[in-house]
Amino acid sequence: MAAAAAHADHAAEEAADVGPSLVTVLQEQGINASDIKKLQDAGLHTVEAVAYSTKKTLIAIKGISEAKADKLIAEAAKLVDMGFSTAAEYAKAREDVVFVSTGSKELDKLLQGGIETGSITELFGEFRTGKTQLCHTLCVTCQMPLEAGGAEGKALYIDTEGTFRPKRLRSIAERFGLSPDDVLENVICARAYTSDHQSALLEQACAMMAESRFGIVIVDSATALYRTDYSGRGELAARQMSLAQFLRKLTRIADEFGVAVVVTNQVVAQVDGAMSFGPATKPIGGNIMAHASTTRLQLRKGRGENRICKVYDSPTLPESDATFAITEQGVADGTD
Ligand SMILES: Nc1ncnc2c1ncn2[C@@H]1O[C@H](COP(=O)(O)OP(=O)(O)OP(=O)(O)O)[C@@H](O)[C@H]1O
Ligand SMILES: [Mg+2]
Repeated sequence: MAAAAAHADHAAEEAADVGPSLVTVLQEQGINASDIKKLQDAGLHTVEAVAYSTKKTLIAIKGISEAKADKLIAEAAKLVDMGFSTAAEYAKAREDVVFVSTGSKELDKLLQGGIETGSITELFGEFRTGKTQLCHTLCVTCQMPLEAGGAEGKALYIDTEGTFRPKRLRSIAERFGLSPDDVLENVICARAYTSDHQSALLEQACAMMAESRFGIVIVDSATALYRTDYSGRGELAARQMSLAQFLRKLTRIADEFGVAVVVTNQVVAQVDGAMSFGPATKPIGGNIMAHASTTRLQLRKGRGENRICKVYDSPTLPESDATFAITEQGVADGTD
């Protein structure tokens, strides 16, 4: 028993060292290989994924009984720290949070370092406000060393609008002194054609992220396909439910792999008639989107290539704004 506990301790230490631990580690805790295979087939590739799953989710996997689900949760929980911690410990952990540089010093300053890993950042704004351009820049900066504002990881890109352009990545890579060929190898992109497909791609994404280190996951745009797939008036509830499920998967990915998750979102005209003060547009997705995104950034056009980013909602950042520019080499400082 003492040996088993020591073993669990050791495994927990190892897990803490290298981020997410592969679900195969559970074999050492007495879970058999065929059950591990079932978990992997269901998209649960890490011990974290199992630990963060509800019993209901596990039982829904073919061949996993209630008793087995209990055991899985218990064993996974031994390896993943899920209890209470002191604020001091939290503060210590926060010091280790990596921020991915946006390519603009002003914008990084506004975001107190850049795009935060481990949570969801939403970029919303009208067309041509730079959402896709910022996503491309982040695909490159996330690959840089930590001390240079990177996350030393690959980028995973889900493109729903057909606007992903490797050529843009090349010129951005050159600006940062990285090899364009290497940069392109480290950006894994998939085009999503329907909202169901977009959601299914996340299962594949988890498998890849369990194998190698990723710094960022981008979904450009998170909401567009939901809008077209559920366009009827009467389909709003179904759309929101489906979008919520997608965003919950993203939240889990941010937690499980410690990656920055960036989603883009469009805006629609506010249609609440008489109450005409306040902004004329609002981001799509209502409360579902608002709750899923930890940091919400509003982009709007400035003069020429300048764009303005406003912190719309954040647990830590003041409501303020910064100007940046869209250049041939990606997002850069504003020209004023
Ligand atoms: N190579 C480039 N050099 C400089 N500016 C560029 C370059 N490519 C695109 N842009 C500028 O970027 C802007 C488009 O930004 P982006 O595609 O990021 O918009 P978006 O917010 O994603 O819009 P949408 O909602 O339509 O997806 C345009 O104003 C365009 O002029
Ligand atoms: Mg775009």
